[in-house]
Amino acid sequence: MEKVYIFDTTLRDGEQAPGFSMTVEEKLQMAHQLAKLGVDVIEAGFAVASKGDFEAIKLISEEVDGPIICSLSRAVERDIEVSAQALKSAKRKRIHTFIATSEIHMKYKLRMSEEEVLERIKKAVSYARKFVEDVEFSCEDATRSRREFLYKAIETAIKNGATVINIPDTVGYAIPQEFEKLIEDILNNVPNIDKVILSVHCHDDLGLAVANSLSAIRKGVRQVECTVNGIGERAGNASLEEIVMALKVRKDFFGELYTDINTKEIYKTSRLLCRITGSFVPPNKAIVGDNAFAHESGIHQHGVLSHPLTYEIMRPEDVGFPVSKIVLGKHSGRHALRRRLEELGFEVSEERLNEIFEKFKELADKKKEIYEEDIEALLYQEFHSGEEPVKVLKFQVQTGEGMFPTATVEVLFEGQRKRATSTGNGPVDATVKAIEKALSLHPKLIDYSIKALTPNTDAQAEARVVLEYEGYRASGRGVDTDVIRASVKAYTDALNRALLRKEYVRKIKGEV
Ligand code: KIV
Ligand code: ZN
Repeated sequence: MEKVYIFDTTLRDGEQAPGFSMTVEEKLQMAHQLAKLGVDVIEAGFAVASKGDFEAIKLISEEVDGPIICSLSRAVERDIEVSAQALKSAKRKRIHTFIATSEIHMKYKLRMSEEEVLERIKKAVSYARKFVEDVEFSCEDATRSRREFLYKAIETAIKNGATVINIPDTVGYAIPQEFEKLIEDILNNVPNIDKVILSVHCHDDLGLAVANSLSAIRKGVRQVECTVNGIGERAGNASLEEIVMALKVRKDFFGELYTDINTKEIYKTSRLLCRITGSFVPPNKAIVGDNAFAHESGIHQHGVLSHPLTYEIMRPEDVGFPVSKIVLGKHSGRHALRRRLEELGFEVSEERLNEIFEKFKELADKKKEIYEEDIEALLYQEFHSGEEPVKVLKFQVQTGEGMFPTATVEVLFEGQRKRATSTGNGPVDATVKAIEKALSLHPKLIDYSIKALTPNTDAQAEARVVLEYEGYRASGRGVDTDVIRASVKAYTDALNRALLRKEYVRKIKGEV
């Protein structure tokens, strides 16, 4: 049995992507869940990049036990010193340093010769080793680097103390067979490559990140860098859940390789990331999408009922995917709610339980049967009862046959109550326009969708909104038995995230 190490970079490469930034507390919460999931390494941030990143790495180092905590650094002394400082309290720590090795990056970005890059690698890796025993070196844009130079760069890093060598497909350019060959060539041509862990880090620009990572594993790579839900720069990184499940489901193909991931925590981790960032995964996303285990066609349904393996290569419960179940009703008490929450993996304090119970009772008055999805939605709302620059205090909508849909809203913004009325193409449009008018803010709406969470007409509706305000993109989610209220919640959730993000960035830059 040989282990494949899972290096999670959701909090660094993932968080770097537009719409996915997280506060320090949110990163800490995510890191605790990643530890529960069983990842081997958490890349908690890029310490020198911002005060927020530094604080998050520091806090995660202090509070999260189990995985190695890692900080990214360019191949410069200052970055390495700041990483070392942020990682000080971690029981197990790693500094990850990188420099580009492709001609195009060296010529136009770094303006450095090959010799200068080698010198930097030597200095950076040996300097990082003064602070920590575990040093990872990445050759940025490795897949477009000249082979002989790439070997030399890796050799230099190993000679100077690197313990892990990472081969990034930075621009998502590689094709699986070609990537396999690259790994084979590195293994055959770099002295002492067997003394380090070889790693890959694939981006998904051509939709091949997971395929490339798996090809590399077949050739002997024993660490993969990946993210929850595949978030990351541009088209994202290789998705953690897809790699892990491919190795598990296709043991017949991959042989005796294993990871330490507790796959039953996968769905919960994916949803936590969505809740924290206000993002969502497409319904057809492998492993964690809403439709990943839904069988729509009659033939498929018949097959699955006769024998699940006719159309299912893994069971939903293997990844902790909830199967729509009625879990509670109007007469259920506090104990039953606590038990269900625990079964769903949520541990809550007595005080929080009381708050959630109040909301549960309100919901149970509106709909007969409470499903797992409803409970999750309750927790989501509770999770987001924090800081809200914009609050919609009241709204009233008139719509009907032969009428112009009209909405009047009252909002609280910057300590002032403001009212406005607007017509629109429908009741949701009228309400959103009235909110914008009252706030005198005009974010650009990128996406809006709404769906019923559970069966029956008394179902809760889940609305999702993506918008952009002054360059800050954010997504929001709102759930309610009333579709307009769900839409208003999603809209204000997204707007508040964009406003908070803008404020957060200004604070970090010292503008406020
Ligand atoms: O994509 C990339 O090359 C990276 C490196 C910093 C590892 O993210
Ligand atoms: Zn990357």
